[in-house]
Amino acid sequence: MISNSEQETATIAADFAKTVNCPSVITLCGDLGAGKSCFARAFLQSLGVKGPITSPTFSLVNLYQSENGVQLAHMDLYRLEDDEQAYQAGIEEILHDSNTISLVEWPERLSWMLPKDILQIKITHQSETSRLIELPESSL
Ligand SMILES: Nc1ncnc2c1ncn2[C@@H]1O[C@H](COP(=O)(O)OP(=O)(O)OP(=O)(O)O)[C@@H](O)[C@H]1O
Ligand SMILES: [Mg+2]
Repeated sequence: MISNSEQETATIAADFAKTVNCPSVITLCGDLGAGKSCFARAFLQSLGVKGPITSPTFSLVNLYQSENGVQLAHMDLYRLEDDEQAYQAGIEEILHDSNTISLVEWPERLSWMLPKDILQIKITHQSETSRLIELPESSL
């Protein structure tokens, strides 16, 4: 799909969220500034997260609750230093938790730890305000 604004990306994310079951691990791939956090924020808000949604830049993972009692995990692994740091942050447990939907920015940093079945999203810059958003076939 093509998004021509942050708002369009938010709409695509909210529509995608409706198709996601628990548990799921969703990977968000794309360059710096592609819109991964923008997508994640809208996804979380559409599932009932209120209040500010900040990037887990240094904490690696932020946890929320959906309105249906599902745990929502937002991860940003860009600054991950080593596997030990991921274990310390509880990331392996969260990724395999049966009551959690995880969104993972920069999943390449920890690809070996991801479960086999993941929902992959790829966001590519087309221009300053336009993005190509590739969603898993199962969600279309
Ligand atoms: N169509 C679009 N969809 C999403 N964001 C857009 C779009 N057009 C412009 N932008 C801008 O691109 C930026 C995306 O930032 P965002 O933090 O979501 O990227 P990111 O992929 O998470 O980057 P990082 O790798 O640094 O975490 C924002 O400044 C946003 O306003
Ligand atoms: Mg980001």
